[in-house]
Amino acid sequence: MQFKTRTHTCGELREQNIGEEVVLNGWVDTRRDLGGVIFIDLRDRYGITQVVFEPHYNSETHDLAKDLRGEYVISIVGKVRRRPEGTENPQLATGLIDVMADKLIILNQAKTPPFPLTDNTDTNEDLRLKYRYLDLRRPSMQKNLLLRHKMYQIARKYFDENNFIEIETPVLMKSTPEGARDYLVPSRVHKGKFYALPQSPQQYKQILMVSGMDRYFQIVKCFRDEDLRADRQPEFTQIDVEMSFIDQEDIFRIVEDLMKRFFNEVKGYDLELPIPRLTFDEAMEKYGSDKPDLRFGLEMVTLNEELKNSTFRVYQDAISKGGIVTSLLAKGCGDYTRNQLDVLTDFVKKLGASGLIWIRVKEDGLESPTVKFLSEEEQKAIINRLGAEAGDLIFIISGARLKALTVMGYLRLEMARRLSLIKPDSNPALLWVTDFPLFEWDEDTKRYYAMHHPFTSPRLEDVDYMLTDPGKVKARAYDLVLNGSEVAGGSIRIHDANLQSLMFKALGISDEEAEMKFGFLMNAFKYGAPPHGGIAFGFDRLAMIFAGAPSIREVIAFPKTASAVSLMDEAPSNVSEDQLKELHIKIR
Ligand code: AMO
Repeated sequence: MQFKTRTHTCGELREQNIGEEVVLNGWVDTRRDLGGVIFIDLRDRYGITQVVFEPHYNSETHDLAKDLRGEYVISIVGKVRRRPEGTENPQLATGLIDVMADKLIILNQAKTPPFPLTDNTDTNEDLRLKYRYLDLRRPSMQKNLLLRHKMYQIARKYFDENNFIEIETPVLMKSTPEGARDYLVPSRVHKGKFYALPQSPQQYKQILMVSGMDRYFQIVKCFRDEDLRADRQPEFTQIDVEMSFIDQEDIFRIVEDLMKRFFNEVKGYDLELPIPRLTFDEAMEKYGSDKPDLRFGLEMVTLNEELKNSTFRVYQDAISKGGIVTSLLAKGCGDYTRNQLDVLTDFVKKLGASGLIWIRVKEDGLESPTVKFLSEEEQKAIINRLGAEAGDLIFIISGARLKALTVMGYLRLEMARRLSLIKPDSNPALLWVTDFPLFEWDEDTKRYYAMHHPFTSPRLEDVDYMLTDPGKVKARAYDLVLNGSEVAGGSIRIHDANLQSLMFKALGISDEEAEMKFGFLMNAFKYGAPPHGGIAFGFDRLAMIFAGAPSIREVIAFPKTASAVSLMDEAPSNVSEDQLKELHIKIR
């Protein structure tokens, strides 16, 4: 039997439709057989409508309905009626009415799903990913994808209104590894040569500035072969932005107005601008992270000044070597047991700290195995500096600056978790982190790497140190942080070929290597490059936070597992000998 296309969606019928004949198509959400009357909740993306099969109303259709099972795809023709008094369902948008079925066509039968297609399931994520088409029928997943759709539309409209043009850049590009590992695609036509999938359209967007496009944006897939976590996928989406003849403030303005719009249109929340700023050094010192979560205070406090004359070897060592003594005041935690303190000590040791010093604050002073190493004055200074009161607990970590701060930063997050400092209804906390170091030292390879990427401009006042004291050079780079997650990152670029060569030199990239990897960009810069800069949003992370989801996989239709596998289509997979041969590839 030919099915009729729907007159209404399953979320649409209301009181004013009572008496109308309608056609509904959808999935059987639930089926209840109550003393001969069969009730079906019919579901589609728009909602649920109750359909009633009554033997006295239409016995043939009622008979057919006996075969219905969950997730069958059906089409019905019926009449809308007011639900009998007392059976209305105020939880449902269509809850005042139901539809008395005259005709039923079963369009498709369905096997019993391997897990319930409801929210609040504790279904194992691998199973959900294997049957993603079923998982995506769940209301929360539909909601997440709709939210994501809405955010695309807001972004597109916003950038269009602000004179940006959307330009697609290649997915098959030249491999220029600096940062994460590239995904490679072998060329059939050019034996032994490879394309790379872009880690980001960075070089293309800079070249578009040389081409005079002035303002570019793109919602674009990026590919990085790196270790995965809850907020990382091997392929992810950026809202990528680049602008000419601008400085950092222009980028901030564009981004802040977009964030305001997102919050307003998605959450109905009025975001206060401007977004606060911290330099990288400040963020590290106060929060032990370059993406601090500012939904709660719990600031770390440096005690170098208070302890500069300390005779305690642990502090002496750190301070004399240019390191740091950092502390954290845990309010009201003075009664932590030895066991609790041991667990926290293990926690910081696993992160690489040599140890954790803890001090209980009592009415009559400080109490800790290490207190005997502190003079009366030092103890007073610490109490004053931290504003400590009886009943509090003080943590101290000392050592090399970035290491000690980072570990204390993790302890800060752990204490916030233990003390439930992040309330579900807390306001979003946004901030800019600025003035990142230009270079990052890698102990393993004993060389400097670009902390952001090699096209990021140093602060002009620092250029002279690029070869002599690279660690001192700050970048014109910035990250946008939302609730402790880095949601965007960008920089003002080098637009001058000479400065770019200097940058490569500082990174230990030879002229030949630079020419081979980035020659096209360097050449482009020789033909009139405007000053330019940009930023890229991690779109999945933004959508995750707006959806209140615990992982970016919840806002991606077909994500990969932590081991970069797609469980549904089983990628990556073996390929045939013939395919390999054509690509001149032999598997060892
Ligand atoms: P960056 O590497 O900082 O900058 O990336 C920008 C933003 O993308 C998000 N992100 C990711 N999201 C999910 N999975 C991943 N594996 C992943 N990696 C990064 C983060 C990050 O802030 N071309 C530069 C931008 C620029 O300079 O304009 C770039 O890609 O939210």
